[in-house]
Amino acid sequence: MTSRFKDNMLFSSIADFTKRKEADLLVFPFWEGDKKAVAAAPLGSFAAILKEPLEAKDFVGKEGDTLLIYPTKEEKRCMLLGLGKEEEVTIDRLRHSFAAMTRFCLKKTIEKVNIVTPIVKEKEVTQEGVLIGIVEGVLLSNYRWKITESTKKQSLLQSVTLVGVATSLLRSVERFETIAQGIYLTRDLINGNADDVTPRFLANVAEEASKKFPSIKVDIFDKKRIIKEKLGLLAAVGRGSSQETLMIVASYQGNARSKDHTVLVGKGITFDTGGLNLKPTGSMETMRDDMSGAATVLATLQTAAALGLKCNITAIVPTAENGIDALSFKPGDVYHAYNGKTVEIGNTDAEGRLILADALAYAVKNLKPTRIIDIATLTGSIVIALGEGIAGLMSNSDDLADKLMASGIITAEPLWRMPLFHPYRELLQSDIADIKNVGGRPAGSILAALFLHEFVDKIPWAHLDIAGTAFLNKEKGYWPKNGVGFGVRLLINFLSNL
Ligand code: BES
Ligand code: ZN
Ligand code: ZN
Repeated sequence: MTSRFKDNMLFSSIADFTKRKEADLLVFPFWEGDKKAVAAAPLGSFAAILKEPLEAKDFVGKEGDTLLIYPTKEEKRCMLLGLGKEEEVTIDRLRHSFAAMTRFCLKKTIEKVNIVTPIVKEKEVTQEGVLIGIVEGVLLSNYRWKITESTKKQSLLQSVTLVGVATSLLRSVERFETIAQGIYLTRDLINGNADDVTPRFLANVAEEASKKFPSIKVDIFDKKRIIKEKLGLLAAVGRGSSQETLMIVASYQGNARSKDHTVLVGKGITFDTGGLNLKPTGSMETMRDDMSGAATVLATLQTAAALGLKCNITAIVPTAENGIDALSFKPGDVYHAYNGKTVEIGNTDAEGRLILADALAYAVKNLKPTRIIDIATLTGSIVIALGEGIAGLMSNSDDLADKLMASGIITAEPLWRMPLFHPYRELLQSDIADIKNVGGRPAGSILAALFLHEFVDKIPWAHLDIAGTAFLNKEKGYWPKNGVGFGVRLLINFLSNL
């Protein structure tokens, strides 16, 4: 599972249409309503072959439409692929069209594809943008969660040649192949059984990353160290499980001369039963995804190292299982956070903010962060507010928030900023401690963020609540069913712009 980051590439390119190699499929893209394929290179005799299905109106070229034809020539089959209306083209529409092509290939066990690369006359999307759309659309959907023996044998695309593209232009999008490996790793970690992807497993992922990339250094805090360091909230949350409770501190130094330092904190609850405030049936079944934030930051760190980004990053993953046991931490009790604040447990199911609070406070005190970004499947409330397509963003810094939003627009991982509305802080007031970890159902996501805010001091900080976007019960465009890998491209884009 962790042996991602291969060297072999899925994509190659060839400028001349007549020099393309054999493949299982040749893809011709069409704008909706157009009578001719949009090709970056002349198509020779193929132009005539493509006419008939269009004249018969079997294919109109709507976004993601596919039609197969079987000319008796070089490739076994040809596909007409709809891109939608040319005047409405965006990179994301291209992602969707080429994801549809990829899903078709996966269904039909097609492994080798030649794509006639389209050209876009509209100024909105550059030729590089076209390649980004194709490459990301294909890579994001060329994934299977290989769990059973039969799914392990199912094919994936093995080779995709962009016809009509100079090699130099392909170079500019090669980095997405590396980023895709990070996304696949994130998905694998989310999808794996909670009994397999344990806190120790996540620690091993980090250790392996440091072996593969010498620029990554890893420190694993075990239970003894967690107690000694007084990470009291993390220790409390992990008490009710036979799995170890750990804190992973993994850093990548890509710019030794700079003091700029981004700390990424990822929620690593490998299973969330809710604890003694047990979740009901129907709410627990997907809770192996409660380490999605952890998977995202560990994969982002490795991807940054693989890309050699010129920035300094530390990923902190507080990780535990929120189990239920005689030793479980208890509602109504008070525990000490790393920064000395006392926390009354109003609900053991609001455990994510507890382990994050310790990790945030640890970062503030020890890591001299320029900025902190945490990412977490934190609240059911954000799913109600924003659904499964948009993640919540809360921040004490307009600048940081704006930059993250901008990255999310580019990578089509949309964020929506929610207010860090300080008057609601009083809802978290406790009679017996400095703060309580819950404050009622209204504005649940904002309350969670206000709780975290107590542990970041004045450091520019942003919180991404991915409870809705990390995991899907149904495939949606290029986002797969189950673990999505939401946030990896966004964070890589953000870090690349630093
Ligand atoms: N892990 C859950 C949040 C969650 C919900 C993630 C749905 C993914 C999908 C979190 O630990 C939790 O249980 N939050 C509670 C907080 C409440 C007790 C204040 C919630 O949102 O109900
Ligand atoms: Zn919970
Ligand atoms: Zn949780």
